[in-house]
Order: sequence, then structure tokens, then C-alpha cells
Amino acid sequence: MSFTANDFLLNARHLQGAYPESLRATFSPEAIAAARQAITAWEGYAPTPLVDLPALAERLDLGRICIKDESGRFGLGSFKALGGAYAVARVMAMQGGAEPLTVCCATDGNHGRSVAWGAQKLGAKAVIFIHETVSQARAEAIARYGAEVIRTPGTYDDSVREADRQARANGWTVVSDTSYPGYDAIPRDVMQGYAVMVAEALDQLQGTRPTHAFVQGGVGGLAAAVTAELWLAAEGAPPAIAVVEPETAACLLESARAGKPVTVGGDLETIMAGLACGEPSLIAWPVLDQGARAFLSIPDTLAEEAMRLLASGQAGAHLTIGESGVAGLAGLICAAQDPQQRAALGLGPDSVVLLIGSEGDTDPEAYARIVGGVEAVE
Ligand SMILES: Cc1ncc(COP(=O)(O)O)c(C=O)c1O
Repeated sequence: MSFTANDFLLNARHLQGAYPESLRATFSPEAIAAARQAITAWEGYAPTPLVDLPALAERLDLGRICIKDESGRFGLGSFKALGGAYAVARVMAMQGGAEPLTVCCATDGNHGRSVAWGAQKLGAKAVIFIHETVSQARAEAIARYGAEVIRTPGTYDDSVREADRQARANGWTVVSDTSYPGYDAIPRDVMQGYAVMVAEALDQLQGTRPTHAFVQGGVGGLAAAVTAELWLAAEGAPPAIAVVEPETAACLLESARAGKPVTVGGDLETIMAGLACGEPSLIAWPVLDQGARAFLSIPDTLAEEAMRLLASGQAGAHLTIGESGVAGLAGLICAAQDPQQRAALGLGPDSVVLLIGSEGDTDPEAYARIVGGVEAVE
């Protein structure tokens, strides 16, 4: 097992100490508690498991590695079930149910499934925009919740713009997981829903505080939720957060390099479909700008290796985690094996590392192609 990151950047603007007041409008203990109260009341709610990977921790000479297994979240297959559906519920509550509501969003799969599910539960209509390369399996999984699915030309970022344009033309409400100029309230609700997962993980750790978290980034909403909740809980000594992205879509890493949110171009092609984003979420960015210690980018091959590692049981547990769900794990292995990165992040035998296995086999065909034939160890 030899993992090498494509790129590694230490964040010069990273802050130590207490959670900044300026970020409280985006994440606060009160907002996260409200999201938790709402979501834990939904039918079928159960915390997802936090699973130890002792064999991998030993191999990497780290104290402990725990991964939140989001494959079973509300039967939707990913942590995204917490965000979009919560935001739909907030929109409905605010609107008071007076008129029939249509919500729409762009998605590379998982967020659209969450919005469609939330809308179906609450009696709203959902129109979900997917870009060119979103697999048919992902499109069908969204349509199963009664949504209209519309395929648009271009990338994920193009589909975000198309959803916004069509919403304006038709009087629909955009429930996006990313924030852009003039649009931030709903993505904030989405991220506060994600933070509920981190609050669960802290409960499951029973007082042990993670020293590190390696979290995958698409537009940065997940990584911002993890960063903020761990920072709020840390009472002035936050863990080291590393954000991990595909090398073809590393918009957060490039934003950290530029010192401001920047867009990366190209076709953004990667097997890590949920991370194929070229534009950071504008409200996630300040949290990561100040809260992330490092940014890494990885090739697709390492995501495949990490999926097989979890499927085989060689890490110390058998887990079914999909392409986007393993990027944090792949990034951790890179950093732990590289002496300079290891030292820069303070990784060592006392480290307690939190990972988010953010999806299961949400595209079962792709999963089987990558993991097929892997021998499971006892
Ligand atoms: C499984 C999975 N993990 C991680 C992410 C990244 O989340 P974000 O775009 O909020 O950074 C996504 C986004 O769609 C996803 O589907």
C-alpha cells in the first residue's frame, strides 16, 4: 500500500484558538441544535455507525482511526440525506404551506436524491437538474422519489446555473447545496443539517476528541460542517482538518492557494462524482479558509484503492463505501505515509483521526466494477 497525493498545501491563513465570531452566522451551537432536534424527529432516524479501523491505524502508526459510515443514512445511501431534505423542510415551514411548492436543484446525484425525498415526504414537487456525465443509475435513484429529472449540457457548475435560471423563470425555490452571489440562506440550512452527523460522531466518541479529520470536498459544504462542529466542540483547541479533493476538481485547494474563492476549469472528470465541482460554495469557503490546516488532491486510482481496502476488511472492518466517500481516507493514507506531510500535520501514535464515509454504493454498477473480485479477509 503506497499512496502519494498529487498536491499538498499547508494553509497559511489557518487560525488556532476559539471559533471566530464572524462564522457564527453560518454555524452556531444553536443552529446545529435546532437542526438536530428536527432531524432526529424524522421517521426512521437512527445515528449511523462510527466504525474503528484498528488494523489501518496500526499500519500507519496512528493512535486511532474512526470512520462514520453514512451508507445507511435514511435509506438514501449518503450523508446528503441530512442536508437537502432539512432545507426543504425549512422552506416549507417558512412558506407556511399556503401554496403548492416546487423545489429544484442541481446535483451530481446525492443532493438531488435528498431534495427529492424531502419534497416527496412533505408534498412538494421537485425538479432535479443533472449534468452530462451523471450516471443513469443516479438519475433513476432520484426519479424513484417522484422528482422530475432534467439532464443539462456541461458540468455540475453549469447545472447549478441552469437550475437557478429555470427557478427564476418558473417561480420555483432553489434548494442548492452550494452558495453563490446573492444566494446563501438555504445552503446554510443544508450545511447545518450535515453538522448533525458530526454531533453524532462526537457523542459516539464518548469524550475522546479527534486530533485530526480528513474530509472530502466538493463545493466544501461537508468539510465546512465538519470543521465548524469540531471547532465549536473543541473549546479553543480545534483538531487539524485536511480537505481532500480529486486532482481534476480541486477548487478548494486552488482557492486556498489564491487566498480567495477561485473556479477551476476543465471537464472536472473524476470517478468521485460527488466531488466533481469547480466552484467553492461561498459560505463554506470562509470556514475552510480559516479552519482547515491543509488541502490535498488525489488521483482516482487512490479512491479505488481505498474502496478496495475497506471492502476487503484489511483496514480492520468491512465497509461498503463509494468513490466520493473514501477520498478522506485516501488523503489520510497519503499524508501519514509522507514524512513531511505527517510532520506538518502532527500525525503520530497519539492521533485520533475522524473520517466521513460519506456514501455507500450509490452507483452500484460503478462500485461493483471497482471493487469486484476483492477477497474479503476475516
Ligand atoms: C458522497 C459525497 N461525499 C462528499 C460530497 C462533498 O460535499 P460538498 O459538495 O458539500 O463538499 C458529496 C457531494 O455531493 C457527496 O455526494
